[in-house]
Amino acid sequence: MFQHFISTSQFVSAGRLDDFFAETDKFNDPNRSWPSSGASGLVMATWFAEPSTRTRLSFETAFQLMGGHVVSMADASKNSSALKGESWDDTVRTLAEIADIIVVRTDKEGDAARAAAASRVPVINAGDGAGEHPTQALIDAYTIYKHFGAIKGLSVALVGDLKYNRSVHSLLKLLNLHEGITYHLLAPDGLVLNPREFLQNGKLPVRVHKSMDELVDIGPDVLYMTRNQTERHPQAWGAKVASYHYDPKLHHLSLKQAERLPKSSVILHPLPRREEIAPEVDKDPRAMYWKQVKHGVGLRAALIDKVLSEA
Ligand code: NCD
Repeated sequence: MFQHFISTSQFVSAGRLDDFFAETDKFNDPNRSWPSSGASGLVMATWFAEPSTRTRLSFETAFQLMGGHVVSMADASKNSSALKGESWDDTVRTLAEIADIIVVRTDKEGDAARAAAASRVPVINAGDGAGEHPTQALIDAYTIYKHFGAIKGLSVALVGDLKYNRSVHSLLKLLNLHEGITYHLLAPDGLVLNPREFLQNGKLPVRVHKSMDELVDIGPDVLYMTRNQTERHPQAWGAKVASYHYDPKLHHLSLKQAERLPKSSVILHPLPRREEIAPEVDKDPRAMYWKQVKHGVGLRAALIDKVLSEA
């Protein structure tokens, strides 16, 4: 049951994910002639204590196109009564008295789950610190699924700050529902992820690489790039010693490298990007990150629809 949507682990099988993608297809219509939903007359509160462009705007666009109303706190870290010492539980209870569904983004892992426990209306996790970003991962998996027709058996390369990128954490749980995935990892020292923490079957093949050139030559089906999450690194909190080593040359995708990938590959990024993908790569047909953004509105509408109907 999706009374709330906090983690991609709520999708317990590939079949359930396929069913959800079939629903998403109905909302993935460029003319936005969507199935009528139960959002009419309802209010969504979006409470965001971290920066957001795509996530908040696509949630709000989706809910408005579904016939609902939106109240929005985009600067919650500066403006909400949390600054007066209000507890997270009381903040959430307040939102639940005002709105029929709540979308939250915070800088602390576990906050979305705590919000779900405190709320009598559905809560959707729009990113909880370095924890999860389940709707972004659904968009990523949906984009892969639409391109290849299936997720089973693909080789997936994950590049960048794998330790702190919450989309990666959520995406691994969705990929792991499928058989025969091969993982290729490329991360700066200190920002690696132990994929086995996320794998359900410790025998799944995982290969660690040293450079983008090496990775490109493997010819992965999916190349998933991520931004360095500098705001989450210990230095951001005053640590004197750099906890990672980032070499833009090793972790950067140039147009020349993109062109060496198999023609059928896809290049994904949850965005925002910094220097990790050269802007010239955008014109390569393998670059699908703008398509991911496009999928965001319809997919979030499908998710809201699911949560409202199962709550
Ligand atoms: C991501 C996030 O906020 O976790 N962005 C997004 O919502 N698409 C990725 C990031 O900030 O790097």
